[in-house]
Amino acid sequence: MGIDARNIHKFFGTPGQEVLKGIDLHIDEGEFVSINGRSGSGKSTLLYILSSLDPASAGELELDGKNIHAMSDEQLHRFRNEKMGFVFQFHYLLPELTAIENVLMPTRKTKSENARRTRAIDLMNEFGLSDKLKRLPGELSGGEQQRVAIARALIMEPSYIFADEPTGNLDSINGDLVMQIFRRISREQKTTVIMVTHDPDYAALADRSVHIADGRIVV
Ligand SMILES: Nc1ncnc2c1ncn2[C@@H]1O[C@H](COP(=O)(O)OP(=O)(O)OP(=O)(O)O)[C@@H](O)[C@H]1O
Ligand SMILES: [Mg+2]
Repeated sequence: MGIDARNIHKFFGTPGQEVLKGIDLHIDEGEFVSINGRSGSGKSTLLYILSSLDPASAGELELDGKNIHAMSDEQLHRFRNEKMGFVFQFHYLLPELTAIENVLMPTRKTKSENARRTRAIDLMNEFGLSDKLKRLPGELSGGEQQRVAIARALIMEPSYIFADEPTGNLDSINGDLVMQIFRRISREQKTTVIMVTHDPDYAALADRSVHIADGRIVV
């Protein structure tokens, strides 16, 4: 169980720039891992590959003990939809949907929208957005949009959370709140949390920090 990445390489462009240079990483089920490193070191690239959203140029990736190459597109889509929550560096909220509709977006595929509506409202309350359920993303501040995106990542109670600088647009109160939630779901629900962050205080809350420099894990 968990995530197993073996000898992951990633090249971009022709001639290829090697952005990841042989990453070996095992992440246990329920582990809370932070990924740190300088801008351009390859953190987002690695996060996308670990989450199966982007293919590696070489190397193997296993999720829950299954090699992703052995999964059909449909299996992989379902795995992502039901078991993974994503918080991206840019939020990708759908501009024509309200905040609460964005949070409920991942429930549509499994037709669990009504069953999860109360949870969506609870998450919005927890993030201090109870009076903004019906706002469009364009009518929210950057930090409010970020919290909507985090609520969306949590709505399906996923086994995995992949978060790319989730506190980047948040003040310290909301940043701390998000960290408390990640810490709690990792302990109580065995959610595996993988988070890129530049904030050393938040990295210190994780069970383990993985440091990337120039496409390699350094200790
Ligand atoms: N789609 C792409 N095409 C070409 N080069 C890319 C692409 N995506 C990323 N890169 C390059 O790969 C390197 C690593 O990028 P990545 O986004 O992983 O860095 P990062 O560590 O997340 O940085 P930051 O802290 O600024 O978000 C950079 O040099 C970047 O320019
Ligand atoms: Mg990045």
